[in-house]
Amino acid sequence: MILEALAKRRSARSFDPDRPIPPDVLERVLETARLAPSALNLQPVCFVVCTRPETKRALRAAAFDQQKIEDAAAVVVLAADLDLAARARRMPELSCFEPDRLEEWTELARLAYDGHPDRCRDEAFRSGGLSAMALLAAAEGAGLASAPVGGFDSEQVARAVGLPPSRLPVLLVALGYPGAKPPLTPRPPRAADGVRWERWSD
Ligand SMILES: Cc1cc2nc3c(=O)[nH]c(=O)nc-3n(C[C@H](O)[C@H](O)[C@H](O)COP(=O)(O)O)c2cc1C
Repeated sequence: MILEALAKRRSARSFDPDRPIPPDVLERVLETARLAPSALNLQPVCFVVCTRPETKRALRAAAFDQQKIEDAAAVVVLAADLDLAARARRMPELSCFEPDRLEEWTELARLAYDGHPDRCRDEAFRSGGLSAMALLAAAEGAGLASAPVGGFDSEQVARAVGLPPSRLPVLLVALGYPGAKPPLTPRPPRAADGVRWERWSD
């Protein structure tokens, strides 16, 4: 089932602006997407869910005027925590560390991230990407159309939803019902650019 859902998923090119997402459907999608994996289970990605017309308009402007951002029923800003060392120190209170791993993983996070903003930023994109894919898959499973949008000005997005400097907007995901069913987009031939076994080859 999940294979079929993923094979069918395509990015919506337009949304029906008059069809909201039932709250229970949106909740289920968000709850499922929240289960995405992350390095050291630091869960650095927060979903800022925007449904108000004025917020979506501000996000559209930040996304180089892409209309689907305003027409989507909900636009999720995936906001990743850039201070993973501080986050690791707060993990007991966030209670998503298994107790027997708490000490070891806190130390690993300190070694990996303290004084390494570049690694934190890499992790933001890695974990943000996985959370985004989980969101796209969950949306597909719930019968929603979705569209990942990376074409935006980060500072404008941060302003539109009030992100603090420690949070990086990694991606927007627009959700809703499609204006028109998008066609299945092609992929490069596997032999040319798809899959390699064991070693890289040209
Ligand atoms: C990181 C990322 C950023 C993207 N940014 C945009 C965007 O700004 N606008 C847009 O219309 N589509 C955007 N897309 C959607 C891609 O164009 C789309 O995924 C690709 O053409 C493959 O089509 P499919 O998703 O329908 O399979 C983005 C996709 C990804 C993964």
